[in-house]
Amino acid sequence: MSFFSRPHAQTQEGSVAVALNGTPPPVPAPLARNLEALDERKLSSYTELKVSLHQQLLDMINLSVIDKMPAAEFRSQVGEMVRELLVRENKPLNRQEQTQLVDDILDELLGLGPIEPLLKDESVTDILVNCHSNVFVERGGQLYPTAVRFKDDRHLLRIIGRIVSAVGRRVDESQPMVDARLADGSRVNAIIPPLAVDGPLLSIRKFAKVPIDMAKLVEIGSLPQSIADLLQGIVRSRRNVLISGGTGSGKTTMLNAMSAFIDGRERILTIEDAAELQLQQVHVARLETRPANIEGKGEVTQRELVKNALRMRPDRIIVGEVRGGEAFDMLQAMNTGHEGSMTTVHANTCRDALSRLEQMIGMTGFELPTRSMRAQIASALHVVIQLERMSDGRRRVISLQEITGMEGDVVSMQEVFRFRRDSTDSEGRIHGHYVTTGIRPKFVSEFQARGIQMPEGIFDPNHVLD
Ligand SMILES: Nc1ncnc2c1ncn2[C@@H]1O[C@H](COP(=O)(O)OP(=O)(O)O)[C@@H](O)[C@H]1O
Ligand SMILES: [Mg+2]
Repeated sequence: MSFFSRPHAQTQEGSVAVALNGTPPPVPAPLARNLEALDERKLSSYTELKVSLHQQLLDMINLSVIDKMPAAEFRSQVGEMVRELLVRENKPLNRQEQTQLVDDILDELLGLGPIEPLLKDESVTDILVNCHSNVFVERGGQLYPTAVRFKDDRHLLRIIGRIVSAVGRRVDESQPMVDARLADGSRVNAIIPPLAVDGPLLSIRKFAKVPIDMAKLVEIGSLPQSIADLLQGIVRSRRNVLISGGTGSGKTTMLNAMSAFIDGRERILTIEDAAELQLQQVHVARLETRPANIEGKGEVTQRELVKNALRMRPDRIIVGEVRGGEAFDMLQAMNTGHEGSMTTVHANTCRDALSRLEQMIGMTGFELPTRSMRAQIASALHVVIQLERMSDGRRRVISLQEITGMEGDVVSMQEVFRFRRDSTDSEGRIHGHYVTTGIRPKFVSEFQARGIQMPEGIFDPNHVLD
């Protein structure tokens, strides 16, 4: 098995480094240059040294062998190569420094380089790389700058390439945008120049290993217990639900938490662009879209999956997020006996969410008159929930509205609850409370018909929700 990609290298079975077994290859010129530069400037030499060694190793190593070689062996062989290079370059490091260097280089070679520690840090939920020297993380709903740096944009680009190639995607000038899911479920988006103006952009939304359930949402103050109870009734009584909110407002999390209320005997079909939902029921059939391959072929859209799902005898269909024409098929499914279906949409208000659906129906290419489009929406959907990620980092349910039908050409809705902001304290925390509008929603009759308990008195206008 040859580890060297260099044609002149003398290889030995199972060997990483020819240098250790035969004539040492000449020190590559760029490395020599970099190491000289280190001497001259005595700069943040460690990072420089590491990156430069890493780059050279990349040139020297036949990467395709990495997967086939036991990790320990790879490790020790790369360790030898690094020591060899250091000696040859007259860069004496003590044993501890060497071990650290080898560890870091291995992280760079096998893992995701400088962001590897952030990926391992459980308190980090999002990693946002704005260019090689500007990396933010989100912790507890707030963004913080970090000291993490890539050497330069090329280094960043290499890491991006590694992330996306691991899931069979690629990113280059002809495909400067890519959306992918890591093996652990985290979502990755990368967009590179020329679309990204100041250098490659990388956004990683880490997968929460333990999903936030409804009890947790109540505990962290995203909604009061009584509204959680109401949501449970809404799911049990098979109302069709649309969850609306901005990016990162917690739509998927809410969808997941609400789905937990579905009876385990029902057949649930989930359709997502990137499988994020973690339903606990046994009878769940999960579908995920597929992007086009490099030749532009083989794409399977959400729309096709929704259509196919209808032939799979689902009791309920859950679409992770509607973004296009699948909205139309989803509404049809809701209108044709798949009651209790749910989805999310990117919008800033409940009303806006409906306009977004209209636009999406427009994307199907059907020339539907506006009125019939709206009638379709009005008869399919029962409840719209608006979420918001507020300036204090907390995600809250800020409005719950019921769709009551059509008035003329307009879908009529009524608000059942709203979050009212009272004050902001010195630490920026928002305080407020939920107010009811005093309207008794129509879906309540559905609760009664199915024998579902209604939280006591929650629609009374003077009732304080907790
Ligand atoms: N109510 C919440 N409170 C705190 N964190 C939340 C809440 N809802 C979601 N999150 C976290 O916020 C991030 C984005 O949530 P997600 O549900 O994927 O948002 P969306 O689907 O709206 O983009 C995730 O890391 C998730 O764990
Ligand atoms: Mg989402």
